Amino acid sequence: MRRIPSHDNRYPVNYRSIKGTKDILPSETPLWQFVEQTIREVFRQFNYKEIRTPVFETTSLFARSIGELTDIVGKEMYTFQDRSGDSITLRPEGTASAIRAYIQNNLGEALPLSKVYYIGPMFRQERPQAGRLRQFHQFGAEAIGSPTAETDVEIIAMTIEIYKRLGITNYSLQINSVGDEECRPKYKEILNAELQKIAGQLSTESQKRIDQNPMRVLDSKNENDQKLTAGMPLITDYLNEECATHFAKVKSLLTAYGIPYTVNGRLVRGLDYYTKTAFEITSTELGSQDALAGGGRYDLLVKELGGKQTPSVGFAAGMERLLMILEKKGFQPPQQRPTVFIAAADDAAREWVLTTTMKLRSQGIASECDLLARSLKSQMKEADRQQAEFSLVVGATELESGKALLKHLSDHSQQNIVLEAIAEFFKH
Ligand code: HAM
Repeated sequence: MRRIPSHDNRYPVNYRSIKGTKDILPSETPLWQFVEQTIREVFRQFNYKEIRTPVFETTSLFARSIGELTDIVGKEMYTFQDRSGDSITLRPEGTASAIRAYIQNNLGEALPLSKVYYIGPMFRQERPQAGRLRQFHQFGAEAIGSPTAETDVEIIAMTIEIYKRLGITNYSLQINSVGDEECRPKYKEILNAELQKIAGQLSTESQKRIDQNPMRVLDSKNENDQKLTAGMPLITDYLNEECATHFAKVKSLLTAYGIPYTVNGRLVRGLDYYTKTAFEITSTELGSQDALAGGGRYDLLVKELGGKQTPSVGFAAGMERLLMILEKKGFQPPQQRPTVFIAAADDAAREWVLTTTMKLRSQGIASECDLLARSLKSQMKEADRQQAEFSLVVGATELESGKALLKHLSDHSQQNIVLEAIAEFFKH
């Protein structure tokens, strides 16, 4: 490819990251890594195994699963044609991809219940604001192959365990049942008839939804819509016996596990694949984008995407929103720091310092030395800046005597060590 000359002003040189995306800087990664580790630990303890799927898929996979009429599919997807003319979409969520992979790889044949989790970037072209990004990160899990309420509650309990483990207590859990293919259409008809009576007074957004997705009208954030629909019938009063029994079991298990919840008959979520249980976890610490996590049961999705009838349930949660709360609380993650910084007191010792640093590293000891030919004073400053646990100063005198002074930088204690035995010292 032809290189673009640097004076060509068709191309700016002040490159910036794309609106709604963020660099996660070296000063921030310790927090990400700590949180990811905690999340993986909880998933492991609940026996969920990691699945990694591509970040882009065929567009219709998302349209078909999330629903053509949802905001995600209608307005927010990063969809483009690749060079062979195929329509590709950057994944806006992880469930559709996990199910596609489950079907394609026959995971259901090996195990009656597949418990998988993922952590990774998702893409939605929403208006960026605090807690809302265009490339954001989710962690989530799917239990594919179980119809039981016990599985719904395992998913909910696992989500909550992650927040608990990280010391986040200020959240609330709302649950609902959105019914199934038998009771939901009947309820929708009743709701639609009620909404028609006040259609003219509703917000334009809600008016558009009356016919195709009337339940979303009840979930409207518009205050006037909320007032107008205050007394409307709720799905929870129209569940068939199977859905009602399932919902009752979910509630009684949550109580048995000591997990507080509120039933919100208006909760519908922004994805169309849900059946029976739907839930959301919100936090008042977050401002307007207050959803920490959401999920629910989706008994029809695997079949809808070409697999066998496979009842399933899952959740996903926003990483950035979780991190916002931890940062607000002043949470300090463990920092990455060298065990020892070896400083060269003179040029004669530089080569020894370099080779010894390498030797320590290959024996598993995090070590650092100067690569900028700096003075001893600057090297000591650097050891402090890097928060090394120990510093060791080695010059011609030390090389000759075979001993050097090792300083413990936090309490300033010091001791002589034999240079030959340096690796053994740190290994113990
Ligand atoms: P969702 O509610 O669309 O559900 O997303 C889950 C979480 O991702 C939200 O609660 C929020 O914390 C975070 N999130 C969503 N959009 C953004 C954004 N633009 N910026 C930052 N964070 C965001 C799902 O994605 C479903 N796949 C959940 C699921 C899994 N249901 C069953 N299995």
